[in-house]
Amino acid sequence: MLLLKNGKILKNGVLVSKDILIDDKKIVKIDKNIQENVEKVLDLEGKFVSPGFIDVHVHWREPGFEYKENIYHASRAAARGGFTTAMPMPNLDPVPDNYENLKIQLDIIERDSVIRAIPYGAITKGELGKDYAEFEELVDYVFAFSDDGRGVQDANMMYESMMVAAKLNKAIVAHCEDNSLIRGGCMHCGRRSRELDLPGIPSVCESVQIARDVLLAEAAGCHYHVCHVSTKESVRVVREAKAAGIKVTCEVCPHHLISDEMDIPEDNGMWKMNPPLRSREDRNALIAGLLDGTIDVIATDHAPHATHEKDLTMRKAAFGIVGSETAFSQLYTKFVKTGVFSLDLLVKLMTEKVADTFGLPYGRLEENGYADLVVIDLEKSLKIDPEKFLSKGRNTPYVGEEIYGIPVLTLSEGKVAYKDSEVFDI
Ligand code: DOR
Repeated sequence: MLLLKNGKILKNGVLVSKDILIDDKKIVKIDKNIQENVEKVLDLEGKFVSPGFIDVHVHWREPGFEYKENIYHASRAAARGGFTTAMPMPNLDPVPDNYENLKIQLDIIERDSVIRAIPYGAITKGELGKDYAEFEELVDYVFAFSDDGRGVQDANMMYESMMVAAKLNKAIVAHCEDNSLIRGGCMHCGRRSRELDLPGIPSVCESVQIARDVLLAEAAGCHYHVCHVSTKESVRVVREAKAAGIKVTCEVCPHHLISDEMDIPEDNGMWKMNPPLRSREDRNALIAGLLDGTIDVIATDHAPHATHEKDLTMRKAAFGIVGSETAFSQLYTKFVKTGVFSLDLLVKLMTEKVADTFGLPYGRLEENGYADLVVIDLEKSLKIDPEKFLSKGRNTPYVGEEIYGIPVLTLSEGKVAYKDSEVFDI
């Protein structure tokens, strides 16, 4: 048994002091001043305790791309960021499009992950958009179906997949990108791409496919979840689809909330991600979408790449930045400390709203619930230093930024998944 004394938890939006008693994988008691004779007692000295975060969008790269990242490092990076559940995307080699391929990934997760990881199954074989993945073989082991990294171009393939997913009671989680509208772009098509004289990806490349898909989801009766929405039109389409009673949900990434195209200082591939940083207006629409409930959850799109793939110009670099280790702190610093939204809302967007969106039994601190939690020092600050990342990926454009609200201890099913050894000796 482990007793956490003097932590502060959120109750109806207010921080209250509580002790938490953990037995093996579960929380057995949350109360004021628990007096129990247990082997281990840890004084949290008033630090904030949140349910462990859930990240429905990570690239853990294994099997297939271990030179960028692997499950050992990615899971430790996630735990350091306060995540206790993560859903790795299927753009792997082999792609988990049948049980045999998926089993390779499941076995490595079992061996190497320090947190709960529930992988996606692909929608199409090899994510090539031509033949269907083996949905029935995968269904018992996967979180949902996605071809993330690519849009499903063929409307009928998407429609049929949605009908099967609906029958299997799984969500279709879509990376929305109409290939005919990419136009060779490497950043958002807007003011900054014109200034830098670089080819741009127009906003419609994303929003047009979301508009198609919400109508397909309506016809198929499927839970349709949109990955990383980045444009104001996407937010509008989702808002209107929700109002029409369509089962659509969506996520936004920290970088799309924090930055926009005008923050890109020069032609530097470290700022390249897909979808790209959009306009200030788009960014404001994303924040408004979070506040009015159109956007359901925050997910990182943690996308590690090797240095030789990112230390390049915008045209040549790979799409993607890492996010697991800094997501909460960056959002806390940018939005909670400045009063744009509350700590309560930020935490919900990373915990219970994710659980409610996908029907997961995690994301809450409650008696009999899993002891998945993160202790955060809201006063502590640090400067982002990629050399200190636990991830193999060093690709962040936010080097040197000062962030507050630093996770110092993460427990996953009662086990220490991350600790700051300078703070806790456990
Ligand atoms: O920036 C991105 N990186 N966007 C994606 O959709 C894929 C991801 C990756 O796998 O690197």
